[in-house]
Parts: sequence; C-alpha cells; structure tokens
Amino acid sequence: STKSKVAVVGSGNWGSVASKLIASNTLKLPSFHDEVRMWVFEETLPSGEKLSEVINRTNENVKYLPGIKLGKNVVADPDLEHAVRDATMLVFVTPHQFMEGICKRLVGKIRKDAEAISLIKGMEVKKEGPCMISTLISEILGVNCCVLMGANIANEIAVEKFSEATVGYRGNRDIAEKWVQLFNTSYFVVSPVQDVEGVELCGTLKNVVALAAGFVDGLDMGNNTKAAIMRIGLREMKAFSKLLFSSVKDSTFFESCGVADLITTCLGGRNRKCADAFARNGGKRSFDELEAEMLQGQKLQGVSTAKEVYEVLSYRGWLELFPLFTTVHEICIGRLPPSAIVEYSEHTPKFS
Ligand code: NAD
Ligand code: 13P
Repeated sequence: STKSKVAVVGSGNWGSVASKLIASNTLKLPSFHDEVRMWVFEETLPSGEKLSEVINRTNENVKYLPGIKLGKNVVADPDLEHAVRDATMLVFVTPHQFMEGICKRLVGKIRKDAEAISLIKGMEVKKEGPCMISTLISEILGVNCCVLMGANIANEIAVEKFSEATVGYRGNRDIAEKWVQLFNTSYFVVSPVQDVEGVELCGTLKNVVALAAGFVDGLDMGNNTKAAIMRIGLREMKAFSKLLFSSVKDSTFFESCGVADLITTCLGGRNRKCADAFARNGGKRSFDELEAEMLQGQKLQGVSTAKEVYEVLSYRGWLELFPLFTTVHEICIGRLPPSAIVEYSEHTPKFS
C-alpha cells in the first residue's frame, strides 16, 4: 500500500512521549498505518522481566515514562533491524552518544525511500570537524533527515500540557509538512522552518547553557544572575551557530527551538537539575555519579556537548570568543570551581 509506516528508534523519556504523540495521530490520519514500531534498547527490570515485554503487556514504559499509556498501536520491539525494516518514516530519538553505533548497524537495513527525522540534541566531533546528528544519519544511511526541536520537557507533554515545537528542513517543504502532520496535536503545535542547522544547533547548544544556569542555581545567585547567564548563553549560541554555518537564520532563535527551549531547559530540565547538585557539592561529586543517582537511567546531554563544543573551539582558536561555553566545560572537568561561571562569563567578547 502507499500508506506511510513509522518506526521510532529510541524509547527513553522523550522517545516514549514522541511515540505516544505519533501513535495518536497515525490512528486518525488515513495516510499512515496505525501501528508505530518503537525500538527498545533491551534491559532486564528488577522484577526479572524484559522491558520490551512489560511495555507490550502494560502499554507503559514503566522505567522511562511510568504512569502514561502510550496507545495500543505502539509496539515495542527489541530487534533494531526488525523494527525499522518496513518503515518509510524513521524517527530517531536516543541519547546522542549512541547514534553513530546505531546508524552503522542500520546500513543496508532500511528502505531506500525512507525519510528520517532526528529529535536528538547533540553533535559528534570528528577529525574533519563537528558533525550534527542529522548529518550523521544522512551520511551513514543515505537518507534525507529533518529535525524536530523545541521547548519540550517530555514529562509535561506526556500529560498533554500545551507546548510548541519547530521542524527544521532543507529543500523539500512537502516532507516537512508530512512530519508536521505526524507530530502536530492540539497541545503540541509544530511549525516548519527552512534551517536544519539552526534548529539543531539551538537544541544542542542550549544544553550547555542549562548547565551554566544550574551552577548559578546551585550557588543561590538569584534570578538576575541566571537571566544574565541565559542572555550571554543565547548570544554564544547564535554566534557559534553562525560561525559554523553562515546559512543559519536569526529568526530561528525566536522559534520554539531557540529562546523557548533555552528558557524551559534552564528552568526545569535534567541538565539544570544535575548542575545545581554539582555546584551544591562544590564540584566534589562527578556528573557521572550524579546522573546515575538522580536520573535513574536517563541521560544528560549537556556535559558531553560542552566537551564537544570545547574541542571545536580549541581546534579553531575560538576559545576566547566563547567564555561561557569554555567555562562550563572547564567546570565540568574540575579545572575551575562552579563559581567561575560568573567570573569568566563577565569577560564577554564583542560579537558583531
Ligand atoms: P533518556 O535520557 O531517557 O535516555 C535513556 C534511553 O537511553 C533509554 O531508552 C535507554 O534504553 C537508552 N540507552 C541506554 N544505553 C543505551 C545504549 N548503549 N544504546 C542505545 N540506547 C541506550 O532519553 P530521551 O529523554 O528519550 O532523550 C533522547 C534525546 O531526546 C536526547 O538527545 C535528548 O536531549 C532529547 N530530548 C529529551 C527531552 C526530555 O525531556 N527527556 C526533551 C527533548 C529532547
Ligand atoms: P534536559 O535534557 O536538560 O532535561 O532538557 C530537555 C529538553 O531538551 C527540553 O526541550
């Protein structure tokens, strides 16, 4: 048939919510098959049962999104190749550090006419330079890849509170419209923007600023300081994005993926939360330890992104242009104390 078939690669906190959103729409839209295949990185729960089996029995991801029904048409599948085999629309939503390995496993296993979208906030740094996750997907799998980013704390969308999101696309607007159709609901309003790099860099870089905001919270520095850090961070986000890709549009920073995601993540995200605890402990407990203790299997993206951004900056000789990004990484690795976030961010360079 000519109906589109959707597979979701990833089933963490946001992956589970994305599957729920998509599954509510595939039931309503005649151009999509009802069933949504969701690949589960298999694990054994303390009860001894397999996570994928529990999801299929209870219709809930009891580990990463407890208490929320995903919809009966979501089918958990622990076999990656099987999950994607017939899909014409592939949704990638895992923590970014796992994507390169997953893409390599999928070479030759997906349909040649498949379209992809990435909901993943992060980048890879190669010898040749930075590589966005959507580019990794496009290049390894030979598919077109859009992105969806926004002010989207998963637990809030899971209970259907209103939010917005941005689809970034290049070239073909019809494909962007199809992704909008698949994700858009009355409480999740999605707008397309022709700027993949800008949308994806917003989603990626705001996680570094969220760590800075968390340090400020952990030091009890108050609202003005936090707002200053967010402003300086937003300016570095824009400058960095435009230095990497001259095509990035100013207007993208005013979409949900830009300033709105920065705000929500600095107020209520996991990166903020763990950075707050890191600063309260005076940097004596590592992020790995705090992540394992505070997030129960969910993953931080900001700490590795700060390192990746730092590598790009130092390789290109841009460290002094980005005091906030640079300082966040140096705090994360213990080279500077958390209080340095304010001292160093004050040395702001002049961006034209
Ligand atoms: P998560 O933080 O809940 O991560 C846990 C997931 O990682 C689980 O599905 C687990 O099985 C999987 N995992 C663990 N080890 C693995 C391995 N070796 N290989 C493959 N998978 C493994 O994940 P998430 O919240 O769905 O985040 C995915 C992406 O979405 C991230 O880039 C994140 O920044 C982004 N995002 C998250 C939210 C949110 O509120 N959670 C919102 C917007 C965007
Ligand atoms: P955290 O990963 O910091 O929770 O941010 C979630 C997010 O990306 C909200 O849009």
